[in-house]
Amino acid sequence: MDLQGKVALVTGGTSGIGAETAVLFAKAGAKLVIAGRREPEGNETVERIRAAGSEGLFVKTDVSKASEVDALIQKAVNRFGRLDVAFNNAGVEGVWVPIISQSEEDWDRTIDINLKGVWLCLKYEIRQMLKQAGGGAIVNMASVAGLMGSAGTATYSASKHGVIGLTKSAALETAKNKIRINVVCPAVIETAMAARAFNAPEMQRFVLGLHPIGRFGKPMEIAEAVLWMCSDRASFMTGQSLVVDGGFLAGPNPPV
Ligand SMILES: NC(=O)c1ccc[n+]([C@@H]2O[C@H](COP(=O)([O-])OP(=O)(O)OC[C@H]3O[C@@H](n4cnc5c(N)ncnc54)[C@H](OP(=O)(O)O)[C@@H]3O)[C@@H](O)[C@H]2O)c1
Repeated sequence: MDLQGKVALVTGGTSGIGAETAVLFAKAGAKLVIAGRREPEGNETVERIRAAGSEGLFVKTDVSKASEVDALIQKAVNRFGRLDVAFNNAGVEGVWVPIISQSEEDWDRTIDINLKGVWLCLKYEIRQMLKQAGGGAIVNMASVAGLMGSAGTATYSASKHGVIGLTKSAALETAKNKIRINVVCPAVIETAMAARAFNAPEMQRFVLGLHPIGRFGKPMEIAEAVLWMCSDRASFMTGQSLVVDGGFLAGPNPPV
């Protein structure tokens, strides 16, 4: 029960990695606040949290809007009294085309959700954590795409590089206040986003070949890493990127 008695927020808790992490947090003893735009899916995650023996609150939120993120944190505190843990996971893949074909509208949307959304969450979460005794732990969601270039997905990659930079700076600003801030960088994980992004069979084969472990990851394998970073077991870790990638970034993987 690594999060016994804690209050945790998961953005993008309506599906995929966020939903699995929220349920794992609940099993670890936390009360949960779930944010996302889809109400039925948010309520479904809350049902899973209850089935896991904890309490959950869904707050319909667009993380790219300051007023909604501010209201999200207020509602979390009104309901549960404090905020100890946050997983800023909400994100979109955007439109994957070369830069010369990218629309300004898609650039703005992807950066607004993936990068500005994390910045807004940090801003209001840290403000709340500074008011409380005991500090807190925050994990942001990046990707291996935040640590390498990727032709055709420049906007997504730029947004995730930005999240890693934001994490380091935020960690420096809060380290003395007992607030730890880290970032997780997964390779391909089996979710709706990955299914959308790699739907062509030849693309799927190519991307699978980049994972030396021979398979894509499962949402629970990221949830476990995030739970550890949010728990006191990771008490000396802040400002770091944790890569969870089946060997993806270890180097080129020629047939042997
Ligand atoms: N799957 C992978 O291979 C992979 C690899 C590396 C990193 N990631 C990252 O992992 C995170 C979760 O993705 P996933 O793979 O679990 O895909 P997913 O199932 O599509 O989840 C994306 C989540 O983000 C939420 N979201 C999107 N835009 C939002 C907005 N404006 N405001 C609030 N919530 C928003 C979605 O909720 P609503 O639609 O309800 O708003 C959904 O819960 C993303 O940041 C993604 O970039 C994924």
